[in-house]
Amino acid sequence: MALYQPDACADDRRTYIFEEHDCVIKKQKKYETLTCLGNGYIGMRSAFCEEHSSQGRLTLIAGLYDQQPCEVEELMPLPDATVLNITVNKEKIGPMSDRASRYSRELNLQNGLLTYSYRYALTDSQNTVSVTQRRFVSMENRHLAVFETTLRTEEDAEVAVASTVSAKQTVSGTQHTFEEERTVMDGDLLWYGGRASVAGTSFRTGSRMRIFVNGIEQSNVQRYATSRRSLAANAKLKLAKGDKLRILRYVLYYTANDAEWADQDASSIQTYICAEMDRVSGTSFDNLLALSRDEWSKRWKHCDIRIDCDDPRETLKTRMAMYHTIIMCPAHDDRLSIAAKGLTGMGYAGHVFWDCELFNLPFFIYTDPDAARKLCTYRYRTLDGARRKATEYGYRGAMYPWESSSMRGDEQCPTVGNYSADNTRRHISCGEIEHHVVCDVAYGVYDYAKATADTDFLNRYGLEILFETADFWQSRLEYKPEADRYEICQVTGPDEYKEYVDNDVFTNYMADWNMRTALCEAERLQKEEPARFAELDGKLGLTRLMNEIRKKLCKLYLPTPNKNGLIPQNDSYLQLEQIDLTKYKTSGINRMIYRDYSIDRISRLMVSKQADLIQLIALMPSLFPLDTVKQNFDFYESKCLHDSSLSLSAYATVAARVLRDADFAHGFFKKALDTDFGEESTLSNDGIHAANCGGIWQTVVFGFAGIDTSHDILHITPSLPSSWKALTLRMTWKGCELKITAEPDRVSIESLNGKELSLVVCGKTVSLKQRVTVSY
Ligand code: IFM
Repeated sequence: MALYQPDACADDRRTYIFEEHDCVIKKQKKYETLTCLGNGYIGMRSAFCEEHSSQGRLTLIAGLYDQQPCEVEELMPLPDATVLNITVNKEKIGPMSDRASRYSRELNLQNGLLTYSYRYALTDSQNTVSVTQRRFVSMENRHLAVFETTLRTEEDAEVAVASTVSAKQTVSGTQHTFEEERTVMDGDLLWYGGRASVAGTSFRTGSRMRIFVNGIEQSNVQRYATSRRSLAANAKLKLAKGDKLRILRYVLYYTANDAEWADQDASSIQTYICAEMDRVSGTSFDNLLALSRDEWSKRWKHCDIRIDCDDPRETLKTRMAMYHTIIMCPAHDDRLSIAAKGLTGMGYAGHVFWDCELFNLPFFIYTDPDAARKLCTYRYRTLDGARRKATEYGYRGAMYPWESSSMRGDEQCPTVGNYSADNTRRHISCGEIEHHVVCDVAYGVYDYAKATADTDFLNRYGLEILFETADFWQSRLEYKPEADRYEICQVTGPDEYKEYVDNDVFTNYMADWNMRTALCEAERLQKEEPARFAELDGKLGLTRLMNEIRKKLCKLYLPTPNKNGLIPQNDSYLQLEQIDLTKYKTSGINRMIYRDYSIDRISRLMVSKQADLIQLIALMPSLFPLDTVKQNFDFYESKCLHDSSLSLSAYATVAARVLRDADFAHGFFKKALDTDFGEESTLSNDGIHAANCGGIWQTVVFGFAGIDTSHDILHITPSLPSSWKALTLRMTWKGCELKITAEPDRVSIESLNGKELSLVVCGKTVSLKQRVTVSY
C-alpha cells in the first residue's frame, strides 16, 4: 500500500506536532497523559526518563486486569521500564530542575515519536549538559517500546546512567504484581516476570540498554543491581568535551493473554522473548521508527482531517483526538474494548462504558472497519456476563454491565463513592439502574453491521446481541393500567444528575429502537433464513420474544412535547426546583455544583450534568421537527452544566447537523477540543477523556461535514463555521475510500481506491467515479 503523504502544507508542523515549551511541574501529569504513547496494546504515559516526585509514571497493557478481594477489576500497572536517571559529576540532572533551560517537548502525531530536550547548568562548574530524549511505542511491533538518549557536555565530565525495570508501582496502595522472576539474562537483559496477584495472568518484561560514545559501542560498562521488585543497569562513563553519548533502550512486554504466548510454558516464552529482543536490539532506532511510522501512515491515510482556518490548533487538537482514539483501541484482539480513559491512566480503572459504542466506535466504523468489528465482538464475548446480570436482577435476555472489563462481562461499577457536600457517603447507583447501556451496545453493534454491510458479523454475533438486549427491555417494561401503557421506571438516563427517574427520554426511545429493530430483524430472518431463525428460536425463544414485543411496543410510552413545546427529559424534570445556575455555568470549574449540593439534592434541582434528550437527537436527528429541537435545545442547554465530557460534542453535533447553526456549534466544539487539549484544565491528569475524543471526530464528520449514513446511500450536507475556509476529511463508506473537501460554497468528493458510488450531496444525487464537485 502506498504510504500516506499528507498534502504538503505550510502549517504541517503546527498541525501535526503537539508542543510544550515550559516545563511546569503542576502540569506534568496532564502532559504525561496528552503525550502518552501507545498502540492499542501498550499505553505508556510520557513521564520523563529522569525521575521526579511529581510524575504519574504508568505503563498499561490492554486487557491485563486484576481484582483484589472485595474490589472491582482494574487494569494493573506493568513493571516500569521508562526510567533512566542521569548524573553528571555526581549531580542528578533532569528537565524539571531549576537549573534546566531551553526545554521543549513535542509529540509528532504522524509517527508517534515523543522528543524532549533541555540544557542543564551544573552547580559547581561552568559546565552545561545538553540532553535529547526520543522514544516511541511501536505501531509495527505492538510489544516494543524504544528509547534513545543523546547527551553532550561542554567540558570533560563523568556521566553515570541508571536504567531500571521496576515493579514498585501500586494503584492507590494496591500492589497487583506477584513476582515470579527478577534477573539479568543473556548478560545484559533486565528481565522481570510476574503475574496478576489474584487473576493470575502472567507477564514478562525485558529491557536491554546499549551505550555508544561517538558512535562506538561501549561494552562491559554496565553493572547490575537489584533490590526489592526492581532491577537496574548502571554505567559510568568519562566524556571529553564535545563527546556524544548515545544510549538506546529496547523494551518488550508480553502477557499470557497474547497470541504469541498461547500454548507456551514459562521457559519457551522466555526463549521466544529473548530471541525477539536480540532481533529488535540489533536494529537501529531510526529503522524501527520507520517501520512504526509506516503503520501510522496507513492509519492517517484512512482518517486524516484538516481544517483550513486561521487557527491551526483546531486541526492539531482534532488530530490529537484521533491520535488518542487510535492508540486506545485494542485493534489486535476481539476480547478487548476501549476503556473510558483508554490506556492513558488509571481513571475509571480501565473499565468500558457506553462511551465506546456511542462515542468511539463510529470513528472505527468509518475509518477502520476491522477494528470496529473487533470492538463489537467483545460485546458478543461478554454476552454471558450480561445474561447473568439480567437473571440476577430478575429480567430476561442480556443486561450489559454499566462498567465492563475482562471477558467475564460482569458488572464492575463500584457501589460507593466519595463523601458528598452534606458529609454522607455517596451511593453509586449506575451499575444498578443506568440501564441505557443495554440499548447503546445494541445500537453500536447494529450500526456497525449496517454501515459496513458485514452480514457475516450480523448473523454470527450481532443478531444475538440485538435479540437478547430486546428481551431484556420487553421484560423490563412496567405496565401501568391507569394509563394503559408500558413505562420504564427507576432508571438513570445519560444525565447522571437525575437518578431513579421514571421514563427518561433517551432510555425510552432507545429501548423502543432496540425492540423495534429486533422485531424487524427477527421477521426478516424468519422469512429469508428460516434455518437460522429456527436455530435462534431454539436458543433464545425468538417466537416468544416477537410476540412479547408485538404486544408491548405499541403501548410503550415515548415522551412528546407538552403544551409548551418542551419534551420532558423524565416524568419529574420539568417540575423540579429551579436555581440560578450562572455561577456553575460560567466558573469553568468542573462539577462545581458538588461543592454546594449533595447528589440527592442535585437530583431534585432542574440541572443536568450532560446531554440526555440532545444525546438522543444526536443519534436520531429526524425524530422531532426542527422547531421542537430548537426550543428544547435552548431549554436543556440552559440547564446543562456539561459536567461530563460526553456532553459538549453531543450539543455541538446537534447544533451543526440539525439546527444547521455551525457558528453556534463551533463554540461547543472548541470547548470540547479544550477539555483535554486546552491549556488550563487539569482534568486529564488521570487519563484522556476517550469519549470526548470520539465526540470531537463525530462533530466534525456528522456535524460540520454533514455526513449522514442513516440511508442506504451516503448523504453529505456540510455546514461550516464562518471562520473555516475548508474542511478535508477521509473516511470509508461501503468499501469506497473517500476524500471529502467541503468549502463554504462547494463540496468535492474523491474516490481514493477507484470504487464508484452514488451519493446525495446537498440534496442532489450524483455519481462518483473519480471525483465530483457540487456547488451549493
Ligand atoms: O459514561 C460516562 C458517563 O456518561 C458520565 N460519567 C463518566 C462516564 C465514563 O466516561
